[in-house]
Amino acid sequence: MIYGLSGRLQTNDFADAAGTKALITDLENDFAVARSAGCALCILAHHAVDEESVIFPTVARVGNELITELISEHHDLTRRELEIAKAGHELLSMGSAEDRVRAGAQLNLAANQLFGAYITHMNREEVELVPLMQENFSDPEMAAMQGKIIGQMPPDRVFAILGWMLPSLNATELSRLLSSLKSAAPPPFMKAVSDLCAARVDSARWDAVKLRVGL
Ligand SMILES: [Fe+2]
Repeated sequence: MIYGLSGRLQTNDFADAAGTKALITDLENDFAVARSAGCALCILAHHAVDEESVIFPTVARVGNELITELISEHHDLTRRELEIAKAGHELLSMGSAEDRVRAGAQLNLAANQLFGAYITHMNREEVELVPLMQENFSDPEMAAMQGKIIGQMPPDRVFAILGWMLPSLNATELSRLLSSLKSAAPPPFMKAVSDLCAARVDSARWDAVKLRVGL
């Protein structure tokens, strides 16, 4: 999602009002209203909410210093997300193409700062937080945390996230996920996920996955 948005921001012609509106709408159409509808900034913002409500309170017992630093990084990311949302709104209200091009260049820089910080933060969680959790918690305990996060999401946000996640998995990862859903998930959910794969996943990869999973 970040790589795709970054590419679109860099190639967008901010003089083109209609194209710019479509891009800003995808980035952030209404930060308050769209929180559950899965706009890109909303999904990024929920990363912090989900981790801080479910994972961090438990992990803080075994790594309080790391968790304190990660929360501080979340605050920094949230501040950047809000700034970008505000800048997007201001940009859309500009009548002059020249002003939009100037503001678009600034928006691009601010988004790059956010994306760089965001990816660095997620890498840190992979390198420091995940091993700490694996040392201190069992697979069922971690699965319970994951289940709690998914359980508290409104369904439209689950599907917004899956819409980004499914096309980002390789054929083996996607096959494993669909095999486990096929044996455990209710058929309507399985059908909704398959439809989403058909719409979003690279068609050759999706064909290979269907063969492997027997769909
Ligand atoms: Fe995080």
